[in-house]
Amino acid sequence: MGFSKTVVIGVCGGIAAYKALDVISDLKKKNININVIMTKNATKFVTPLTFQALSQNMVVTDMFAEPKAWEIQHISLAKKADLMLILPATANIIGKVANGIADDMLSTTIMATKAPVIFAPAMNTNMFANPIVKENINKLKQHGYNFVSPSSGRLACGDVGEGKLADTKLISAIVCSMLYDIKDMTEKRVLVTAGPTISPIDPVRYLSNKSTGKMGYAIAEEARDRGAKVTLISGPTSLEHPFGINVINVKTNEEMYNEVLKHFDSQDIVIKSAAVADYKVEQYSPKKIKKNNERLEIKLIKDNDILKKLGELKTKQILVGFAAESNDLIENAEAKLRNKNLDYIVANDITSSDTGFASDNNKVVILSKHGEIINLDKMPKKMVARELFNFINV
Ligand SMILES: Cc1cc2nc3c(=O)[nH]c(=O)nc-3n(C[C@H](O)[C@H](O)[C@H](O)COP(=O)(O)O)c2cc1C
Repeated sequence: MGFSKTVVIGVCGGIAAYKALDVISDLKKKNININVIMTKNATKFVTPLTFQALSQNMVVTDMFAEPKAWEIQHISLAKKADLMLILPATANIIGKVANGIADDMLSTTIMATKAPVIFAPAMNTNMFANPIVKENINKLKQHGYNFVSPSSGRLACGDVGEGKLADTKLISAIVCSMLYDIKDMTEKRVLVTAGPTISPIDPVRYLSNKSTGKMGYAIAEEARDRGAKVTLISGPTSLEHPFGINVINVKTNEEMYNEVLKHFDSQDIVIKSAAVADYKVEQYSPKKIKKNNERLEIKLIKDNDILKKLGELKTKQILVGFAAESNDLIENAEAKLRNKNLDYIVANDITSSDTGFASDNNKVVILSKHGEIINLDKMPKKMVARELFNFINV
């Protein structure tokens, strides 16, 4: 299978050079072609052979090496790149590019490319705090270069502070997002809800459900990748905050209700994929309930129906609901679509063990209020999210 995209990764002489290997490994799994350019100093930290083996391409280190084919390599790589990632970006490369210096293969290729360039700096805290480095970064940002800011932590030199390379998973996700071809939602504001809600019983116990939030997070990320401005209202999950998305954390149905209503008016599309508790505990016990009795009865009462409320309030918004059903999937989904005044409903059969809750895959049917229906095969949740937005045809 051919590669659809090429990322040229520039590795510089810093302790974090080995972390570029993780990013290459992530991107290769996504079938992205990788060409590595190493600075001379980078080769002191990791051998070119390691990068060659992982990228499955020749690694370029020397601008004046005998070319393997007749092409001027810094120009050919600059043209071939759909994106350049400089990782780790040393104070040196940042300073060189900011000042128009092109004295080796990497700095020359950065200068020659028209592709977007991302710098992922990593350096000692004092170096990162140096006003000259800061000025250089600001200058590059003004010229349209992108940066993934370093995080704070314990650095290899023993200092603690800002300058640690950003998380490599985050860097890979940003690269993939920037490579995404479909940018058809740049004018859209999208609100997504995800995860479960909880209903507290006493200070240590609560009722909840099996939702992990994976489907909703995938939808929010797909909308972000397509250029939308995304707000994600999330119940408690173990998922990491996705970058570039306004994440609002809530716990209970009521908190989710309040946040959703606060943001609803300004949205173009609202996708309610959260598994919101239908019932709440009638009487919360402020003290921990003791195990004195053989039987313990907890009374539940109906909680807010957020989706129904949005169906009543809706003006211009496209409203999408989810139906997790264990029987009569289509009939139940159609009824929910009508009763709650939805535009679309995504229905899935939760009795299947390898799709639905907690799984990375889902198998869904999407119905529209106009009677259209698509029946999707089992696929990763990110693909389901893509099909959903394709179907909504925003
Ligand atoms: C052990 C060691 C670790 C280094 N780590 C970093 C670093 O993390 N970030 C940085 O900007 N420079 C670091 N340097 C300094 C750079 O290697 C030096 O500035 C060099 O000129 C960078 O060259 P390059 O940008 O062409 O790779 C380190 C140097 C040594 C010896």
